[in-house]
Amino acid sequence: MIVSGSASQSLAASLARVLDEPLTTPTYDRFPDGETLAAVPEFEGGRATVVASTVSNDAHIELLQLQDAVREAGAEEVVTVIPYMGYGRQDDAFEAGHPISARAVARAISTGADRVLTVNPHERDVCEFFEPTATAVDAAGRLAEPLPDALEDPVFLSPDAGATHLAETVRDAYGAGETDYFEKTRRSGTEVEISPSDVDVAGRDVVVTDDIIATGSTMSEAVAVLSERGVDRVFITCVHPLLVRNAYTKLSRAGVEAIYGTDTVERPVSSVSVAPAIADEL
Ligand code: R5P
Repeated sequence: MIVSGSASQSLAASLARVLDEPLTTPTYDRFPDGETLAAVPEFEGGRATVVASTVSNDAHIELLQLQDAVREAGAEEVVTVIPYMGYGRQDDAFEAGHPISARAVARAISTGADRVLTVNPHERDVCEFFEPTATAVDAAGRLAEPLPDALEDPVFLSPDAGATHLAETVRDAYGAGETDYFEKTRRSGTEVEISPSDVDVAGRDVVVTDDIIATGSTMSEAVAVLSERGVDRVFITCVHPLLVRNAYTKLSRAGVEAIYGTDTVERPVSSVSVAPAIADEL
């Protein structure tokens, strides 16, 4: 039985189709004081796979409620799939007195899960914060699927050294091209500085890949740098297209050819499904 969080309904339906498992219909309500209430109908025992991206604080609570509800409804095993793990970037206490938020949320989720899967977490090590076995599913290769067949002498770039493996994975899945990375310095939550890579991009197609697009600052800076250097077309690919605030507009104005994200976060650009990659690990 596949059970969807309210923010992951499309992915949960795709997963149910790939696995040929029934999809239950949870209800998502809210009390007058703002508290959420996610509930599921009764079902026969067996495995319940709860699919819920924790894209907001409400989504975190909803996931905890669904895990609890499926047990109450008779599930013998609860597998929790967190396609996008919110708070995953807070994987350390960055100053004295700060929490390790990724660990805090992982501990809470662990209380209701027998097994956890998450897709391309910002740092793979966050899997160790969960008590049951937690698996990081790598779905980055699927980002090559929507790219045009005939890219012009392509370069696959990551906006910082930490995402190099993602650019390489997309290049390998595409089957041709050079890879490189920018140097990124983050000045604030919305300001980043990008230093160009050495690779010559003039007249070439460039695919920039990152794990997350949040405010779009990183990607729009990368596109600006590429434009100054005479790039032909820029395609943006990312696993988790959060696209908060005016990110989509920023990127469109920067002149990108296309943005391709996955359905770990359900947005208009989420054209790539990670359902087959999750199904392979279940
Ligand atoms: C950070 O290291 C991540 O990999 C992304 O580059 C970052 O989260 C993107 O954020 P934004 O879109 O706000 O620049």
